[in-house]
Amino acid sequence: MIVAMLEAPPLPAAPPAAQQEDQSIPARRLTSAIGALVEAEDLPAGPDRAARLRELVVEHHVVFVTGFGTDEASFTELAQSFGAPSIHPLQRFTGREGPPVTQIIDSPDRPPAGFPWHTDLSWLECPPRFGLLQALEIPEVGGDTLWISLAAAYEALSPPLQELCSAVTGVHGIDATLRRTVVDHHGTDLADRFAAAHPPVRHPLVRAHPDTSAPGLYICPMYLEHIAELHPDESAMLLSHLEAVATDPHRAVRWRWSEGDLVIWDEACTLHRALVDHHPSMRRMRRCTIDGDRPRAASRT
Ligand code: SIN
Repeated sequence: MIVAMLEAPPLPAAPPAAQQEDQSIPARRLTSAIGALVEAEDLPAGPDRAARLRELVVEHHVVFVTGFGTDEASFTELAQSFGAPSIHPLQRFTGREGPPVTQIIDSPDRPPAGFPWHTDLSWLECPPRFGLLQALEIPEVGGDTLWISLAAAYEALSPPLQELCSAVTGVHGIDATLRRTVVDHHGTDLADRFAAAHPPVRHPLVRAHPDTSAPGLYICPMYLEHIAELHPDESAMLLSHLEAVATDPHRAVRWRWSEGDLVIWDEACTLHRALVDHHPSMRRMRRCTIDGDRPRAASRT
C-alpha cells in the first residue's frame, strides 16, 4: 500500500478510440445494453460513412439512423458498402432471383408474418452478417420492432453456465412459422422440397463475434431446435432458461418507426422481432441482409 502511494501517479487513461470518434459524430445510446441513434446529416460522406456506421453497429449492435430519406438507390448503396447483399435462399430455390433489396408488405389481406424472436436464417451454414431495414409506410400505431443483445445475454449467465454453453452446439432448422409462410406463398410441395434442401445445421452455442471475437450466446428461439450434445429434456430446459435470459427487456431496445427511419443491426449478436399489433393497417418496410461467414466458437477461458 505504502509502495503504491510512493509510486508516480498513473497518467489519466486515454478515452477508448470509439469514444474519441463519438465526439465527431454524435451517437446517442438508447439503452445500457443495446442501440444507438444517429442523425443522417451528422454522418460523413463517401466511404467514411459506411466505415463509421459499421463501427457503431459493432459497438452498439443496432444503430437507428433518422433523416436518411427513402430513396431506394441510396439504401442499396449503403447496403452494398456493408458487404455482399444476400439473395434469400427461397428466391434462389424458386429460381425467381429478384434484387437483394426487398419489401415486407403487411396489408388488410396480407397479415404480418408474426415471426418470433430470431436472427435471420440461422439455419444456413453461413447466416447473414448484417441486417438493414427502412420504414416506407408506417401505421398510426403499432408495428414496432425490438432487438436484444445476445452479448449481454451471455454476460448475464453465471460462469459455470457460460462454461457449459461454450462446450455445446445448437441445431438450427427451418421452423413451423417459416414453413407456413412458404406454404402460403408457394404451396406444400415446394415447402417440402425447400426444407429437404436445407437440412438443420449445427452452430456453436457461444459464438465469437466476427469482428471482435467477444463471446455472445448464439440462440434463436425461432430456428434453434435443440442442443446436440444434451438429452432432449436437458436441452429443452436449458433453451427455455437461455431464451428467458436473452429476451429480458433489460437487454432490449424497442423502436417506434417513422417514415424514412433506417436501422442497421449486427446479426451475429442480436435477436429481433417485429410486433403485429398494427394489423389490418398497412405497413411497408424495405429490407436487405448482408452475407456472413460460418459462425465460429468463442474461445473458452
Ligand atoms: C424481420 O426481419 O423479422 C422483420 C422486421 C420488421 O418488419 O420490423
